[in-house]
Amino acid sequence: MNEKTWAEMDAYLESKMHTADAVLEAARADSTGAGLPEISVTPSQGKLLHLLARMRGAKRILEIGTLGGYSTIWLARALPADGRLVTLELDPKHAKVAQANVTRAKLADKVEIRLGPAAESLKRLGAEKAAAFDLIFIDADKANIPVYFEQSLKLSHPGTAMVVDNVIRKGAILDAASADDGVQGVRRFNDLVAAEPRVSATTLQTVGAKGYDGFALLLVNRV
Ligand code: SAH
Ligand code: DHB
Ligand code: MG
Repeated sequence: MNEKTWAEMDAYLESKMHTADAVLEAARADSTGAGLPEISVTPSQGKLLHLLARMRGAKRILEIGTLGGYSTIWLARALPADGRLVTLELDPKHAKVAQANVTRAKLADKVEIRLGPAAESLKRLGAEKAAAFDLIFIDADKANIPVYFEQSLKLSHPGTAMVVDNVIRKGAILDAASADDGVQGVRRFNDLVAAEPRVSATTLQTVGAKGYDGFALLLVNRV
């Protein structure tokens, strides 16, 4: 078994379980065309986020790391008519592409893109006394995952679900001495989770079109 098989398997499963989606395909094509890195979630992962949001009955979603808005669209489509999604992005070029993709998806009235370092935007959301989010997707710079996790907890309520992307990195996370600050960020996050009684968590290792990685799924306990 190899990466080619994983990618072919993703394509096969998508051909069975997904319907052709011009809006999502255009969002991906325009992101690539604008020179954005090809690091969005895969269609299967996007649909998982969408299904989790629907299962959760999420009315307020927070996304940390927008890129071209591909995962944003999957998540925002799970919202009811009065639902809202706030997504945080550092790079103005990414935010501009995302805004166009979200608008084409007819989701502009539900999605707010906030530009700037996510840690600052999260602080501001706290200061604004923003209502707690029902689902939070952490997918920005990996070195700051511990910061985003702690700030996300403050913007949560009992029952909030969190998904943290890229927490396996081909197994690189096992290397305690790694010089990669993303690896160290994930390790520190795992230590925080281990010591955090307010959440229940698990991590799934995944293979697919993006190779070998994984995501953490957390639930803020209802005490
Ligand atoms: N969630 C997207 C992919 C996000 S890629 C999807 O699946 O479609 C990670 C994004 O985080 C990039 O757009 C990058 O510019 C952004 N980012 C990196 N550092 C950041 C920071 N400090 N604050 C906010 N966003 C950041
Ligand atoms: C990277 C970031 C991601 O969010 C991802 O899913 C894959 C790779 C990266 O920064 O390399
Ligand atoms: Mg990611």
